[in-house]
Amino acid sequence: MENFTFYNSTEIIFGKGEVNRAGEKTADYGKKVLLVTGGGSVKRIGLYDRVMNAFENADLEVFELTGIEPNPRISKVREGVDICLEKEIDIVIAVGGGSVIDTAKAVAAGVCFDGDPWEMFTMEGEPDEAIPVGVVLTLAATGSEMNGNAVISNLETEQKLAIHTPACLPVFSILDPVNTYTVPKEHTVYGIIDIAAHVFEQYFSHTESTPIQDSWAEGIIKTLIKESEVVLENPEDYNSRANIMLAGTMAINGLLSIGKDDDWASHAIEHELSAIYDIPHGGGLAILFPNWMKYVLSEGTDKFVQYAVNVFNIDTKGKSDQEIALAGIEKTREWFNSMGAPARLADYDIGEDKLEEMAAKAVSRGPLGSYKVLEKEDVLEIYRMSL
Ligand code: NZQ
Ligand code: ZN
Repeated sequence: MENFTFYNSTEIIFGKGEVNRAGEKTADYGKKVLLVTGGGSVKRIGLYDRVMNAFENADLEVFELTGIEPNPRISKVREGVDICLEKEIDIVIAVGGGSVIDTAKAVAAGVCFDGDPWEMFTMEGEPDEAIPVGVVLTLAATGSEMNGNAVISNLETEQKLAIHTPACLPVFSILDPVNTYTVPKEHTVYGIIDIAAHVFEQYFSHTESTPIQDSWAEGIIKTLIKESEVVLENPEDYNSRANIMLAGTMAINGLLSIGKDDDWASHAIEHELSAIYDIPHGGGLAILFPNWMKYVLSEGTDKFVQYAVNVFNIDTKGKSDQEIALAGIEKTREWFNSMGAPARLADYDIGEDKLEEMAAKAVSRGPLGSYKVLEKEDVLEIYRMSL
């Protein structure tokens, strides 16, 4: 294990009915609130009214930034920053999934940033100041509710870039699994795959002797496999939604990668896809991840053997390490397929024409990953395997 420091300041408020506390928690940070929401689901499920009631009870003054789209745009961030500066907003509250939360974070950092908000994403280094952000989560996927990341798209430049800063850690996140009952089947599946991908990015590592981190990771994947079956059968199964929600939060709050190398190449490779084709992040990962696994296997089978045995109980008798590892990868693809996830780029009508361009953009800030360090040709090969 390597040296590490771990710090995560987000207060997690988990469980049924906890949204009623949104007012009192927000009021700790001031009176003027910017409420950020997406394309309408929060109104349809009645959550908007509950949050507004809680705000009213706490005597808060509310301004709104709404209509945040999946793969959220920098144009909305600019709009939010302008409102915050004009109205002297004290705290930004996101009610939604990752796209809404990431927009809220980028707005909060943009308020303190001297320059156009897009520069925060393209500059060397990270923004180190933001006004407070609070979250009411409606979709289990990105873990944005307990990390300092924000991923924003710029349609003009066809880029999708991230900031990672402790300044953007939400001050609190309210996680009521009931608020995820209405997530449509395909987004439930994309969310589960995104969570699994976050675990994989940290699990597949060459750092030796990390049994605690490994068993946490394997436990999350096994939970997701079990609960994905339950939730797709019954979207209103409380315990299943709760376990998936907790999985999402724990998968990318920093814990799984303490004391070890992590990878994140597949995320960078996927972000090029969703930047250009505007496909769901989890859908892109479903296509790419098993191919990344196959591609990097040449760098060492041990971790993949461990994964195959501990997660899928692959029978090892008479099999080489390579065969066991491949069986685990195949099981991963089968699990994704069984949930109805896309398996090939062709499922999104994506052909060969932009693969070169995407591979070049993916490595434009340097090679990717650590399990196997990927150059442009490697990334291109993973795209080709995914056609
Ligand atoms: O816009 P509304 O109407 O709210 O509908 C949303 C949206 O269409 C809907 N939805 C959300 N909660 C719902 C619901 N529908 C019914 N009932 C509910 N309770 O779901 C759709 C997808 O929402 P979105 O927020 O886009 O999904 P997700 O949470 O998967 O976020 C994806 C974005 O996060 C980025 C992705 O790249 C992508 O841009 N990521 C952010 C990360 C982070 N901040 O740490 C890490 C991830 O790896 C990822 O890159
Ligand atoms: Zn992700």
